[in-house]
Amino acid sequence: MSEHAGEPAAAAAPEADAAVHVIAIDGPAGAGKSTIARALAARLGLEYLDTGAMYRAVTYAAMRRGIVDDDAAVAGLAHEVTLEVGEHGVLVDGIDATVEVRSAEVTRSVSRVAANSAVRSELVERQRAWARRRGGGVIEGRDIGSVVFPDAELKLYLTASPRVRAERRVAEAGGDVDEIEAAIAARDDYDSSRSDSPLVQADGSRVLDTTGLSIEAVLAAIERLLEPDVDLDVDRGVGAT
Ligand code: DC
Repeated sequence: MSEHAGEPAAAAAPEADAAVHVIAIDGPAGAGKSTIARALAARLGLEYLDTGAMYRAVTYAAMRRGIVDDDAAVAGLAHEVTLEVGEHGVLVDGIDATVEVRSAEVTRSVSRVAANSAVRSELVERQRAWARRRGGGVIEGRDIGSVVFPDAELKLYLTASPRVRAERRVAEAGGDVDEIEAAIAARDDYDSSRSDSPLVQADGSRVLDTTGLSIEAVLAAIERLLEPDVDLDVDRGVGAT
């Protein structure tokens, strides 16, 4: 696939488009969003977009240019840079940065870039364009149900205890669980308290606490929510609480 979540946005996107069917998955770092979004998309025959990778890609491009602390320059860069985020990985201006965007350096700087309103509005337009071109998809991030697709067909808010989220990151990439738990908590705080599009449980979202749940159990809970007789307007949690 690989179609570009990356082409600079052209015209403004209409707020709601009845023909675009989006499953929005939001939540804090390490809640299992990527694993679940990818598996759900495969089961439903939809494409999957990791919007965190887009913020990471802009951060990486800014670091390479030595401008990551200059918010105005980063905003300009976000308009110009070519990003391709897909199953193949992440290309930034045509160069493979799949590994680099996950580095500790990028992780340390990405919250600042993600708090930059000009960067956000550019990437939000690209995310809407990505979905319009496909008629929808499974899209994960922090503001997908609250800002990018408030009319999404299903809005999920995935969470898990801070300890479990840190343990998952350690299992993926190694490191000290106490340090990673502290770093995750700091990033959650920053992402939840920024003024533009903070991490929140969107209106109408279903909260799924994945602590102690297998991937299969989470997918089964989501598939139940997608059954036609389930009333998605009711705002209540499912799964382990
Ligand atoms: O999910 P992640 O850890 O790869 O996200 C990287 C950063 O980008 C994280 O600090 C939250 C931010 N982000 C955001 O602000 N909005 C999104 N839609 C996705 C990610």
